[in-house]
Amino acid sequence: MIRVEDLHRHFGGFHAVDGASLTIETGSITGLIGPNGAGKSTLFNVIAGVLPPTSGRVFMDNEDITGLPPHTLFHKGLLRTFQLAHEFSSMTVRENLMMVPGAQSGETIWKTWLQRGRIWREEAELRRRADEVLDFLTIRHLAHEKAGNLSGGQKKLLELGRTMMVDAKVVFLDEVGAGVNRTLLMTIADAIIRLNRERGYTFCVIEHDMDFIGKLCDPVIVMAEGKVLAQGSAADIMKNEAVIEAYLGTGLKNKDMVGA
Ligand SMILES: Nc1ncnc2c1ncn2[C@@H]1O[C@H](COP(=O)(O)OP(=O)(O)OP(=O)(O)O)[C@@H](O)[C@H]1O
Ligand SMILES: [Mg+2]
Repeated sequence: MIRVEDLHRHFGGFHAVDGASLTIETGSITGLIGPNGAGKSTLFNVIAGVLPPTSGRVFMDNEDITGLPPHTLFHKGLLRTFQLAHEFSSMTVRENLMMVPGAQSGETIWKTWLQRGRIWREEAELRRRADEVLDFLTIRHLAHEKAGNLSGGQKKLLELGRTMMVDAKVVFLDEVGAGVNRTLLMTIADAIIRLNRERGYTFCVIEHDMDFIGKLCDPVIVMAEGKVLAQGSAADIMKNEAVIEAYLGTGLKNKDMVGA
């Protein structure tokens, strides 16, 4: 699905991503782990078109997508979840879903303004789809809640829900579990697994929680200092000397890694 070849992203003289090459197989839930500052989020941002690479290439289904802007990638089905925009917090959960760009038909609202019948049909269809998503995520009861009032975990579910309003192929999740309570974390994990099995979504998931990674991801790719250090099953990765070394080298605040 995604192939990254010798990717570099420098910030001044600092090599945040320093020659990373990796493959995300179609149909997989691939984990991306590594110590703080390893370059994981930067790699995501380059793949998703948020940051241009310094050098290297990114392919999606063998098509060179290097440097394409996020909205173009979005239409190709490559999505990266973002924190809900501040201005959306006063809208309801259901409205947030209905506002996902690309969920509406191609015409702008202005062009279709006079075609009210069509707008109504379109709105009804969007609402139906939004409610389906809410059911899938087991948060239908929050449909009319303002997004700003949601808990951290519920916001993460809504972010995931936004990827379901369009036909996503590959979804990049950066620390969806951060600050989320255990119950909601498992709801998020279940939603990811179901999207993967039932809708064929491919995922690439950055997460520090090794329980979450172990339950969800195969394979797991480990980054350290801008490079790919290892790849394998979660069990193999946790036994890998170089990986343990990389985590220890950061001063070991990673109880996640040790506790797992
Ligand atoms: N816009 C930027 N300007 C300068 N340096 C940056 C920028 N973005 C990231 N960096 C640096 O690049 C390195 C990699 O950052 P990145 O956020 O990709 O790491 P990460 O693996 O996602 O870490 P974490 O697990 O803490 O989220 C860090 O040292 C960071 O300070
Ligand atoms: Mg990060």
